[in-house]
Amino acid sequence: NHESEKIYIGFSQCISSDQWRKDMNHSMMVQTSLYPNINLKISEANRSVEKQISQIEDFIEEDVDVLLVSPLETKKIVPVIERAYEKGIPVILIDRKIDSDKYTAFVGADNIAVGRMAASYIASSAADNISILEIKGTDNSSPTIERSLGFNQIAKEVDNIESVFTIENYTDDQFSRILDTLDTTKTDYVFSFNDILARSAWQVAENKGLADDLKFVGVDGLVGPDGGINMILDGRLQATVLYPTGGAEAIKLARRVYAGEQVPKNNSLNITLIDKLNADIMKNQYEKINEQQLELEKQLLAIEQQEEKYYVQNNLLKIAMAL
Ligand code: FRU
Repeated sequence: NHESEKIYIGFSQCISSDQWRKDMNHSMMVQTSLYPNINLKISEANRSVEKQISQIEDFIEEDVDVLLVSPLETKKIVPVIERAYEKGIPVILIDRKIDSDKYTAFVGADNIAVGRMAASYIASSAADNISILEIKGTDNSSPTIERSLGFNQIAKEVDNIESVFTIENYTDDQFSRILDTLDTTKTDYVFSFNDILARSAWQVAENKGLADDLKFVGVDGLVGPDGGINMILDGRLQATVLYPTGGAEAIKLARRVYAGEQVPKNNSLNITLIDKLNADIMKNQYEKINEQQLELEKQLLAIEQQEEKYYVQNNLLKIAMAL
């Protein structure tokens, strides 16, 4: 019977420490706990492609039933992923893409759409002659490439965005120097690859007394003290694009793939623009979902303890009967 078979899912997570990644891992674990027959193992590569490749090699070695990968970048990872795929292991990519079509399915938001949404927001919220500083992501990942692409597509299309100056390989020092030469009568917006970089850039501007001259737009939209939603509420961010992690969806997809179901190759997740008009609502929604998740985890724990008790009692009974 298929239901009682153990499914071993290996997840190779490219980055270890930021809140967005933690949320992704957590939503996978919560989803996994709903199915007692899934065994999920998460390996974190801490931003090292080499480490990620060797962790995927280990998963291939262990013959995982389904391999989930959030790849650090698009190219170097290709051979090992193709090896897994050609060996017959279903491969589900999450959040980031690769330069190959040898994988089973992708789940994640459309990052070109993310960039376009941010630029459309900026274009619609100010009058004319907008100048923008774009802070690009610092790796060669598909979100870095695609967000920038989508953003600049719209920036070229609309009449009121005058210029986009793109900053590659962001550092605080470099941003500080750029601010020194800034014509503050012109630069209106900073579009940042994610809320984390937006937070750093805002701090640099704040230290120079320039934060009020710039409007910051980010991506991710997490809650928590340094999350994008809170930064909107406390005035650091003008807006952010909610970028869902897809953790739960990846586990659901993995089950379907394991069951032999034909799944779509591209599984696109919805994005949403958050600014001060809906930040409160989004925060409330988040908190509600979190509460429900905690409640669910409590109940699952209670069931587990109940099962253990039953197991112990059953064993005691058996011993008693044997005496
Ligand atoms: C987190 C992160 C997010 C971003 C995503 C893109 O590690 O950098 O901020 O939206 O990865 O892959």
